[in-house]
Amino acid sequence: MRTRVGIVGAGPAGLTLAHLLHLEGIDSVVLENRSREYVEARIRAGVLEQRTVDLLVGAGVGERLLREGIVHHGIELQFGGERHRVPLSELTGGKTIVIYGQTEVVKDLIEARLATGRPLLFEVDDVRLEEVTSTRPRLRFRHEGRPQELECDLIAGCDGFHGVCRPSVPPGVLTAFSREYAYGWLGILAAVAPSSDELVYSSHERGFALLSLRSPSLSRLYLQVRADEDVAEWPDERIWAELHLRLGLPGWTLTEGPVLEKGVTGMRSYVVEPMRHGNLFLAGDAAHIVPPTGAKGLNLAIHDVRVLANAIVRWYRSGDESALERYSDECLRHVWRAEHFSWWMTSMLHLPPDEDPFGLRLRLAQLHYVATSRAAATSLAENYVGFEL
Ligand code: FAD
Ligand code: PHB
Repeated sequence: MRTRVGIVGAGPAGLTLAHLLHLEGIDSVVLENRSREYVEARIRAGVLEQRTVDLLVGAGVGERLLREGIVHHGIELQFGGERHRVPLSELTGGKTIVIYGQTEVVKDLIEARLATGRPLLFEVDDVRLEEVTSTRPRLRFRHEGRPQELECDLIAGCDGFHGVCRPSVPPGVLTAFSREYAYGWLGILAAVAPSSDELVYSSHERGFALLSLRSPSLSRLYLQVRADEDVAEWPDERIWAELHLRLGLPGWTLTEGPVLEKGVTGMRSYVVEPMRHGNLFLAGDAAHIVPPTGAKGLNLAIHDVRVLANAIVRWYRSGDESALERYSDECLRHVWRAEHFSWWMTSMLHLPPDEDPFGLRLRLAQLHYVATSRAAATSLAENYVGFEL
């Protein structure tokens, strides 16, 4: 088999890249090791930046997103028993965010890919990369029990943090930068109308909590827990009791509902530099991870592949490699902005297990500053809606 671009991973990054290339008449093969049902059901992000929405709509995969996505103009920060609204749109010249689950983005992209008739293979095994520094890199894998070989011009490593592409780069080529956090998030999806019209990020003495949503009848809620927390220790009643404590306010009630899904996610900041080795280009979580507090992971993945698709198109059109050469630097500028913002939001809102009274006062001073200074709130807002560098 032969293709122009071999794409490993059918997450938001791989599927969006495949679609953007398709629109330019460039063929690709997408290899995914899980089943379609699995990737369509994997609950992750929910907040889309305006430019992510614009890209998906512009690429013709935003019809349902425009119909079902919920536009938000602000978020709430809660601490010290009060909520403070950050009016995102007012502070950013009218920009908004859209609530639309990653599951839905992935479903729309898979449907669009299948409609093109171009290859998207699920449940492939043993993907291996060969000769990535040559002009004929290859992907070897097994599909439906048979060994396959795919010769490509370029390989896009869109296979997430635990994929094969990044580890297939020889030692010494990439430099990794990382920070681990002593906590993670316990997330639930609940069949109940969201109790607040806007997202509530609550910094509480018992730890962080977040109230989010997926639709007018589905709430998504998170609690800060230990990074190694066993979800079995959290029956639904305990989760709701803790959510009431951390999100509760006089005169406001959190409405409970049946818990449809729950799980614990660890938190990490991670970047590799550069995001390229020979003709292998890393994109999305394969190259970087942010803690979810800034809602940046999915948006960053889409940004990477937008830059990559433009560079690939230019190369095929005119033989001009300069945009491919700039790919890593161009992405990393955005990646590090998002890394900083995500780390900052995370550090400001979470209770570290070893926090001393000085640390607590610094965090509260920062929260008060964001809640009272228009300049500080504007800084948060412009990063949250997506900062154009
Ligand atoms: P992924 O979505 O990880 O897609 C990679 C794909 O590659 C997957 O489908 C995977 O099955 C496939 N793959 C892996 N290995 C191979 C292989 N060897 N061969 C073939 N295919 C392979 N972000 C937020 O903004 N908010 C959140 O609430 C949030 N929650 C998250 C919860 C979890 C558990 C995780 C892991 C991430 C979360 N994120 C969140 C981050 C966000 O979901 C990611 O940034 C986003 O999914 C990145 O997209 P991607 O396409 O780069 O990677
Ligand atoms: C979500 O709805 O899953 C969500 C929202 C905001 C975040 C992280 C996750 O910062």
